[in-house]
Amino acid sequence: MFHMGWFLTYGFGVYGWDGQWSGNVAKDVARPDLFVDMAKGLERAGFDYMMIEDSSVLPDVYGSSFDYALKIATVRHDPMPLVPLLAAQTKHLGIISTAATTFYPPFLAARLFRTLDHLTEGRVGINLVTASPHAAAQNYGYGQHFEHDKRYEMAGEWMRAVKALWDTWEPDALTLDERAGIFADPAKVHYANFEGEYYRTRGPLNTVPSPQQYPVVCQAGGSPAGKELAAEHADTVLANQTGVEAMKDYRDDLSARLVAHGRKPADVKLLFLCRPILDDTDAAAEEKERRVKAEAQTRFEDQLASMSYHSGFDFSKFDLDEPFPDLRGRSNGHQSSVEEYARIGKGKTLREVAFAPRPSVRLVGSPDTVAAQMDEAIQESGADGFLVAHPVTRKNITEICDGLAPALRRRGLIRTGYPYRTFRENLMEF
Ligand SMILES: Cc1cc2nc3c(=O)[nH]c(=O)nc-3n(C[C@H](O)[C@H](O)[C@H](O)COP(=O)(O)O)c2cc1C
Repeated sequence: MFHMGWFLTYGFGVYGWDGQWSGNVAKDVARPDLFVDMAKGLERAGFDYMMIEDSSVLPDVYGSSFDYALKIATVRHDPMPLVPLLAAQTKHLGIISTAATTFYPPFLAARLFRTLDHLTEGRVGINLVTASPHAAAQNYGYGQHFEHDKRYEMAGEWMRAVKALWDTWEPDALTLDERAGIFADPAKVHYANFEGEYYRTRGPLNTVPSPQQYPVVCQAGGSPAGKELAAEHADTVLANQTGVEAMKDYRDDLSARLVAHGRKPADVKLLFLCRPILDDTDAAAEEKERRVKAEAQTRFEDQLASMSYHSGFDFSKFDLDEPFPDLRGRSNGHQSSVEEYARIGKGKTLREVAFAPRPSVRLVGSPDTVAAQMDEAIQESGADGFLVAHPVTRKNITEICDGLAPALRRRGLIRTGYPYRTFRENLMEF
């Protein structure tokens, strides 16, 4: 069996606002309804979680302006208030929300996620990101962002500070003895007195212990420093790798790091991004794949804008027909993405890279065919599951939740229910 998640690539944002299947954006923008429908669909489908991406910038690297970001509606609302709205309409689904360690003071994050753990009844997760754009750092009052590896070093300490705060109340500190008039046992509540190189916090929290005590921790940084952070703290890791070989290498590398940290490879569930192309028959899906590829060519600027955002280099300045620029070692942004661009761009022009979608594995066919393809990819790569990265539209939700998921379940590949109360317990079930 493997795990399924959905990655909301533009967080609590807008998806393909001018597309045919995007619903009524004029009415829905910044409303929770679509995301509530999605959460219900994912729970019906037996997904482990939805992961709500986030960032604090209106991207302005591509073309050195935010014109393109506005054209394609790259806006994002704060995901945190959305979490309890999704939880109120579901019972089992894990809900992961993103927090930038660089910008949240540990106390604020520890208190927020403890409260969310209560409001979700033990179903919240935190996606740790260090945030890469300088613009994000500037929004929070810094002149420039911290250097890449230093951000991760800070994030490791940040997480230790947050955990120290979560530990300030022992799990059984709440006495609730109404007769004796004792709410909590003072002997089981402690100061954190955390003194790190970058963070200090006193504690204790003024919030009571929550169902999971530590929310599920998620991490997606793929550089050596990112994987180290995951190996120390994560319960689930997300990765975007092209091809089963690259997926397998990622798995092996992460497993070795986990063992070095005294943990077991099974302690972390590693999910790879995927974009299945589904239709009624294999032939129809293959035809759809041709259309998807053709459409990617007309929307190649989306790809250039995305690469600019991730790398911090303005890809509008490079010639489309020159060899793909090798930016390795020069980016303060997503280093694993820059490595991946260099790998797939070797011997190609920028046009060839930008015009072609890059799936982790090719998943094309009827629901049953794709279910078989996923099974094979999981077996070959050693991954723990897949993370669907399609735009959030009701059409995509239906295809995945009511087409693909039942086909996966018929083959015994995904869960049939949620036996435990909390997100972490269900995630660790297999
Ligand atoms: C599936 C996935 C989800 C991610 N979600 C976010 C996010 O919500 N916010 C963010 O700032 N970065 C996000 N990232 C970026 C990572 O946190 C990280 O910066 C990126 O993978 C590059 O990591 P590296 O510099 O360690 O190679 C995500 C990456 C992946 C692969």
